[in-house]
Amino acid sequence: MFEFNLAAPMNWIYGVLVVLIPLIGVAEYRGWFQLEYSKFRPTQGGMSSRLGMFILYFVPIPVHLWFAAAYLGHATLAQWLLCAAMVGHFAKRCLEVLFLHKYSGPIGRFTVVQITLIYSLASALGGYLFAQAPALDGLFANGTLLFLIGEAGNYVHHKMLADLRARRSGYFIPQAGLFRLVTCPHYFFEIIAWVGIALMSHQWAMLLLALAMHNYLAARAWKTRQWYRSRFADYPPARKCMTPGLL
Ligand SMILES: NC(=O)c1ccc[n+]([C@@H]2O[C@H](COP(=O)([O-])OP(=O)(O)OC[C@H]3O[C@@H](n4cnc5c(N)ncnc54)[C@H](OP(=O)(O)O)[C@@H]3O)[C@@H](O)[C@H]2O)c1
Repeated sequence: MFEFNLAAPMNWIYGVLVVLIPLIGVAEYRGWFQLEYSKFRPTQGGMSSRLGMFILYFVPIPVHLWFAAAYLGHATLAQWLLCAAMVGHFAKRCLEVLFLHKYSGPIGRFTVVQITLIYSLASALGGYLFAQAPALDGLFANGTLLFLIGEAGNYVHHKMLADLRARRSGYFIPQAGLFRLVTCPHYFFEIIAWVGIALMSHQWAMLLLALAMHNYLAARAWKTRQWYRSRFADYPPARKCMTPGLL
């Protein structure tokens, strides 16, 4: 008979992720906890998007390192690379927030607290799981490749969005890169990066985390497409939400 061993941390991790996977997408889609930033920013109040975004991407870095400290003293090359991927992901986002993105409005203060907590939990989970050293095998190599493709594609599409505001502020219909096919290609590449980290780690729990992020971002991309359609009569009707040819 199945027994839920309350003393086993992995049971808790799988339990939380299994609840989170459907809940996070449905909650965003139904607006149960609307994260207030960018096109869905607060109507009044809030704080500087640049500062708020920097905080929520920076805090997970020391959180991850704190957990990773338990094994970094005797880490294998695979563990160093995993730690570098996790820290590199959040550091890249910090740099983009500081030097690339051009924000047009505030972010909700409570949203900053919510996302900081969610990312810190994801980062802590990675730090905890990576204590189990994965093999430097084909799965690890493919995961590394996916991670690099994901981060590069994510950056390229962030740059395209920033370039739209080179001359004028406001919102425009992006027409470059994978924006021709989907509304949020930057989300698509972010998911590829997280799947890459999951493959590198050889951990099912990291794959479930990527699935939870996928569900959240898919719901957000769907709402973003609704937003574009409601404001631009000429928004390309065939353009999907996030995944080329699928969703
Ligand atoms: N892992 C996760 O669960 C998760 C969740 C959310 C985000 N993310 C990451 O964060 C990244 C950014 O997400 P986001 O939701 O902030 O993206 P976003 O809403 O598309 O905004 C990105 C930047 O582009 C600007 N922008 C957006 N649409 C524009 C348009 N039509 N014309 C001109 N400028 C435009 C935004 O300005 P404004 O601020 O003025 O709108 C902002 O500076 C994602 O690619 C992903 O990597 C990850």
